[in-house]
Amino acid sequence: MKFSRKIEFVSLSIALLFTFLVEVSGSWPGTDQPPPIRDDFNALVDFTKIPPAPVRSNETLCPETDTYCNFACTGCVNGDITVCPNPRDWGLTFDDGPTTFTIDLLNYLKPRGLKITFFVVGSRVAESPEILKMAYDLGHEIGVHTWSHPYLTTQSNEQIIAELQWTAEIIKATIGVIPAYMRPPFGDVDDRVRNIASQLGYKVVIWDRDTKDWTFTKDLSFDFNWIKGNFTEWVQEKPTTGHISLQHDLYNQTASQGPKVVPIVLGANYTIKSVASCIGDNDPYQRKKVLNNPPKNNFTSVSQDQPTLTTVIQESTMMTTNLPVSTQTFYVTNVANNQRNFLNYLVMTVNIYVFVHSVIINSM
Ligand SMILES: *[C@@H]1O[C@H](CO)[C@@H](O)[C@H](O)[C@H]1NC(C)=O
Ligand SMILES: *[C@@H]1O[C@H](CO)[C@@H](O)[C@H](O)[C@H]1NC(C)=O
Ligand SMILES: *[C@@H]1O[C@H](CO)[C@@H](O)[C@H](O)[C@H]1NC(C)=O
Ligand SMILES: *[C@@H]1O[C@H](CO)[C@@H](O)[C@H](O)[C@H]1NC(C)=O
Ligand SMILES: *[C@@H]1O[C@H](CO)[C@@H](O)[C@H](O)[C@H]1NC(C)=O
Repeated sequence: MKFSRKIEFVSLSIALLFTFLVEVSGSWPGTDQPPPIRDDFNALVDFTKIPPAPVRSNETLCPETDTYCNFACTGCVNGDITVCPNPRDWGLTFDDGPTTFTIDLLNYLKPRGLKITFFVVGSRVAESPEILKMAYDLGHEIGVHTWSHPYLTTQSNEQIIAELQWTAEIIKATIGVIPAYMRPPFGDVDDRVRNIASQLGYKVVIWDRDTKDWTFTKDLSFDFNWIKGNFTEWVQEKPTTGHISLQHDLYNQTASQGPKVVPIVLGANYTIKSVASCIGDNDPYQRKKVLNNPPKNNFTSVSQDQPTLTTVIQESTMMTTNLPVSTQTFYVTNVANNQRNFLNYLVMTVNIYVFVHSVIINSM
């Protein structure tokens, strides 16, 4: 390589490395960070209709009387989906993904033709969009589980809206649809949270069989055989309804229990279904019928959470569709931001290139 070529090569490499680092740092809110409140998101909800349940100051403090039906405090349900109605149906659900551990689970379910439900955390979608897309493309149901996994009844109305809507937006940017089902983290839902979720188009899904698999992170004596043990007991009960069980694909230790419990459930002649399909809903997404041609993100790298030029073009083409005004505003803003980001990116690459180039030349 000629010396001047070498300078070009070094300058360009450094410029590209910098811009790559900026690119992967992303424009979505951070992992497990409370996402910013937005006026356009708040405008999706009529605040006068939200029941005035007090915001809990601490998740360990429950109100003395359960006026607003908090499931986490008392097990109270109010229109929530907790079971599959048909006694032979089993809704298998995994929360807190997508993660790399989800992939093994998906690969296990695929040849068996099994479709289940994943309630995903928005910030984890930002980390692994291609895994969410894989799950969706394989026909699994995708539901919303918030952006940063807070106890929702400890959050203000605006914070709850931000948790749900940011998650909806990234799911939409990734698979082109917004879920119609959500699960409150820790089952922490009261009538205030239910009302906001409902106004944003969600049905609330809880569970009636909890593996408590995540407690292994706190309880050193946790025995993973308990999960198989619990399922074995559950399938032997004389059912009056089917069940919805709760597991997590955040950790390998818990995600890898999926292949262990599926044979127990199938062996007892249950049919494994997604939650939506066990309640007879074959279209568990919102506004699918409104958007004729939903946008799709195409992924080129594992941690691509920054909207790319392709996304900008795709989002531009959906501007003509029939979305509610507030949602359109979001996309207009977002497209403008993305285009600005992309221009910044180009300008920065050129600047760094020129800078590094001149430093090398001057030092000769
Ligand atoms: C909630 O209260 C518990 C026990 O009183 C305490 O340990 C915990 O730190 C509190 N959490 C918050 C978020 O204040
Ligand atoms: C079911 O799980 C609980 C912990 O969540 C455990 O104490 C119990 O022993 C398990 N049952 C069986 C039969 O393994
Ligand atoms: C996850 O756990 C399974 C089963 O214990 C193991 O076979 C696999 O290698 C683990 N995967 C990762 C990425 O650690
Ligand atoms: C499951 O169904 C098959 C065929 O209908 C039957 O032979 C078997 O005994 C059933 N098993 C259980 C555990 O009910
Ligand atoms: C995105 O990917 C899908 C499948 O890989 C492909 O069919 C489609 O044409 C791609 N879209 C764009 C805009 O590149």
